[in-house]
Amino acid sequence: MSDRRCPQVVVIGSLNMDLVTRAERAPVKGETVLGQGFDMVPGGKGANQAVALAKLNAECTLIGARGDDDFGGQLVKSLDQHGVNTSKIKKVPGVTTGVATIVVAEEDNSIIVVPGANFHCTPEDIEKEEELIRQADVVLIQMEIPVETVCKGIELAAKHGTTVVLNPAPARKLPAEIYSRIDYLTPNITELAILAGEEAELQDKPEPRYEKMMRALADNGVKHVITTLGEEGAAYLAAHGEILTMPAYPVHVIDTTGAGDAFSAALAFSLGLGKPQKEAIEFASKAAALSVTRFGAQAGMPSLAEIENAF
Ligand code: RIB
Repeated sequence: MSDRRCPQVVVIGSLNMDLVTRAERAPVKGETVLGQGFDMVPGGKGANQAVALAKLNAECTLIGARGDDDFGGQLVKSLDQHGVNTSKIKKVPGVTTGVATIVVAEEDNSIIVVPGANFHCTPEDIEKEEELIRQADVVLIQMEIPVETVCKGIELAAKHGTTVVLNPAPARKLPAEIYSRIDYLTPNITELAILAGEEAELQDKPEPRYEKMMRALADNGVKHVITTLGEEGAAYLAAHGEILTMPAYPVHVIDTTGAGDAFSAALAFSLGLGKPQKEAIEFASKAAALSVTRFGAQAGMPSLAEIENAF
């Protein structure tokens, strides 16, 4: 493991330009509503998590793909300014950079992502970086890139004993054999239900039964399942098999975009420092809480000092 105050983390994931509209409420089907504001800010789950790690002083490299357009250039420049190593971001000719259309309303958000170049991040791109993955303390992956690329990242990290954190967002089914190579899985409740094949749990029930779904994923081989529950906090499987919850830190919410990214990145950082699961979740919960108090996914990511001095 590298310097205990500066873990080495490889993020494999997406870069998007976020087109963010703020409104009092999101429109229902067929409806037009007036919004309160519009901003264009750097985003993408991979890039957000890389920036969050850089703000925590981790040594962070992002492996991903961008288009050969202005958005791609702007996103890489912003990552550079935050101190992320961008040398492994591929520029794909003739393809647009990923774009996310986001509606922020009623203390929540909804997002449509057009992946563009992100879907050109291939398993071969990951294979080329095997040595980097071998040297890292943690590999952190999300799912705005092809599933085969996600699996290649997990396989190579597991092969070299590098801790694997998978933030399965947006969730898609994964090959059964990959689960046993995941050290930490960080779904929200919707992603948990999709991965557990229990989408019906989200319908017609006041409370989805996350315990049953978390146990199903653990039975499939995932070593640690941590479910983010928004304002309810996070649920995790303790060593003795009991499911415990950690309450969320109460804050004034401005923008929830990127809260899941803040959580997964801070968890990866803490695990990279060798912290135990409970302590890492506590740290991640603080990071997520602070991230929603500011507008913008990346602008909201807290520094190490902010987390250490909060709450
Ligand atoms: O997790 C938040 C991110 O999801 C946004 O920045 C947007 O780009 C989408 O990828």
